[in-house]
Amino acid sequence: MKKVSFLESIAILKNHGIVAFPTETVYGLGAIATSKDAVAKVFSAKNRPSDNPLICHFSGLNQILEYVENVPTWTKKLILELTPGPISFLLKIPKGSILSPATAGQDKVACRIPNHPLTLELLQKLNIPLVGPSANISGRPSGTSADMIINQFKEKIDGVLDGGKSKIGIESTILDCTKDGEVIILRPGAIGEEELLEVIKKLNLSIKIVQPNEQLGVIPGSKYRHYSPETELLKIQTVNQILSQEKYVVLATTEIILEYNLKNDLKRKIYIIDLGSKKNLINLAQNLYSCLFKVDTLNVNTAFLVEEDFGCNSLAIALKNRINRIGL
Ligand code: TXA
Ligand code: MG
Repeated sequence: MKKVSFLESIAILKNHGIVAFPTETVYGLGAIATSKDAVAKVFSAKNRPSDNPLICHFSGLNQILEYVENVPTWTKKLILELTPGPISFLLKIPKGSILSPATAGQDKVACRIPNHPLTLELLQKLNIPLVGPSANISGRPSGTSADMIINQFKEKIDGVLDGGKSKIGIESTILDCTKDGEVIILRPGAIGEEELLEVIKKLNLSIKIVQPNEQLGVIPGSKYRHYSPETELLKIQTVNQILSQEKYVVLATTEIILEYNLKNDLKRKIYIIDLGSKKNLINLAQNLYSCLFKVDTLNVNTAFLVEEDFGCNSLAIALKNRINRIGL
């Protein structure tokens, strides 16, 4: 598999093939959402459990409205205000919808309008929505660069449209908009309660944000392992917990690396991966998955991830959510 041009991407997708496309969150494994065959290929390439629905990507609100059940004005306003952007809206679809194979039979679809010029143009040119689960084999770190994807998928997909490194680096917020007058953050992302409240206020909307129900019941994907390298990964609270005599790698923030004076020891095969500074969570989020991905290239027995408190802004909450699910 190789990098493909914009025009090649269109041709492959029209032919029911799979092209990984860039978005500002992570790359998506793209295929025509209305093609049963193409959707089946995505489930198979990703080794995705068949009950785990795929997010659909649209060029804009008008295209979403062609596929979902009637939505109230507040939902339309919210979508217009927050897109293109790192957020997905869970909306109802009619019975027997053409999107049913993509939603694994669920009566709702997660709709996303990604903020990446190449992909927006791709969606506009195709004039059909694309499924786009994160571009990774199920359970592995999501692809945030073309090289990560080529490395993981080899010949399992038809190409990758290179749009550079993903700017945000972690997946979109998923917002349940199927209840009247309220929204629920089902998966935290860069847009959180704080940013949503701001928009709700600005638009004078009378909706409330409610805390998520037990995620497991609502998001099928939340019951599966995520973001994990193949190498055994142990989460630790302090570097002093590492007693291993074997080859290992430590993933830690710049602050921890400095505090404990951690250094690569190539003779003993001890490696240090700098996750970035706690003071720059934007940068840390951008690099998190590529750091996790790097672990498997080092040929060590164990990876230790030093857990830390990142604070309580939206990105910090989203990062905590992803790190909590590594290796589960
Ligand atoms: O940022 C993102 O959202 C990326 C980019 C490529 O758009 N996509 C992404 O897709 O993260 P994925 O498949 O890795 O994660 C989507 C999550 C899964 O946990 C899935 O179970 C849930 O969203 N989901 C998708 N459609 C759903 C639906 N109709 N109902 C409930 N949960 C849904
Ligand atoms: Mg994923």
